Amino acid sequence: MGNRSIKWGIVGLGNIATQFASDLILIENAELTAVASRDLAKAEEFGGKFNALRMYNSYDLLFEDSEVEIVYIATPHNSHAELSIKALESGKHVLCEKPMSLSFKDTQRIIDASKKYNRFFMEAFWTRFIPSVQDVLQKIDNGIIGDINYIKADFAFHGSETENKRLFDKELGGGALFDIGVYPLFLSYILLGYPKEIAAKAIKHKNDIDLQTSMILQYETAQSVLHASIVSESDMKAVIAGTKGRIELNAPWFIADGYSLYINEEKEATFTSPALGKGYSHEIIECQNCILNNEIESNLWSHQNCLDLSRIVEEVKNKS
Ligand SMILES: NC(=O)c1ccc[n+]([C@@H]2O[C@H](COP(=O)([O-])OP(=O)(O)OC[C@H]3O[C@@H](n4cnc5c(N)ncnc54)[C@H](OP(=O)(O)O)[C@@H]3O)[C@@H](O)[C@H]2O)c1
Repeated sequence: MGNRSIKWGIVGLGNIATQFASDLILIENAELTAVASRDLAKAEEFGGKFNALRMYNSYDLLFEDSEVEIVYIATPHNSHAELSIKALESGKHVLCEKPMSLSFKDTQRIIDASKKYNRFFMEAFWTRFIPSVQDVLQKIDNGIIGDINYIKADFAFHGSETENKRLFDKELGGGALFDIGVYPLFLSYILLGYPKEIAAKAIKHKNDIDLQTSMILQYETAQSVLHASIVSESDMKAVIAGTKGRIELNAPWFIADGYSLYINEEKEATFTSPALGKGYSHEIIECQNCILNNEIESNLWSHQNCLDLSRIVEEVKNKS
């Protein structure tokens, strides 16, 4: 088996698919075998740009391509569950964009399909795999800031209804929580686990999607104060504070190129740990390693992690 190439297919050729493909071609043993769009001209243009072997005008045709081993699903959120399950049923491994579904029930259906068809599935939580986050998790695990008692993280920017249509479209699963609120929730969950209690409040658009959501995740001895917005901005630094000191992830923290360590309020050190390419390469490498090792889940972003995060998101949505 060794380092043989893994053959990828991409469905839904929009913004993130383009970013992802530019990282995929950086990975030595990754091959872009096929791409699929609802529009053949778009598939041909995208496929030409990234040297795909085959271009399809239907996602189903890509699922039927016997050479494709893993499908990267880069469509709007509302289609993630059905496309993931269809790809798994077709015998493909799957990397699906976040959020992998719009409900805990659908997340469970996807995980069940991965187990039933014995195919790898991972939600594309790329931030989990970037070097700065990996380093910070390791240092915190080693006790560098003591026990965590406070996390502050947000993801906020000025979206526009004309330029960011998907974000404001209720049908497509729009709103701040599903699109970007999952990031601060992810940070709290990966550091502190499943919370004891969740409080959340949202400001809604006239079509009922959330324009901004603020959340508190309560743990035995810690609180995470989190925020997501598609109508305002923030510095997007993340602070993780413990009994001995704190770590500040550089902005924007979800693709931090480094971080600072403070002990007893004094700056102790700064660390630089840039990502390879745009940052998606690290999740690609994780998928490839899991497939080569015949694993159906990653132990860094496991099926249980996906289920837990999905349940947290659902609770935030119901409470806000
Ligand atoms: N990991 C990250 O950093 C990151 C960043 C941005 C977005 N995302 C995630 O990636 C997913 C796609 O986001 P995006 O920003 O790439 O969106 P986008 O630019 O709108 O692209 C989505 C693509 O999905 C396909 N599609 C299928 N059904 C569609 C429908 N009913 N309406 C619109 N498009 C449809 C289209 O491709 P075809 O026309 O080719 O079929 C479209 O180009 C979202 O779930 C989002 O959360 C992740």
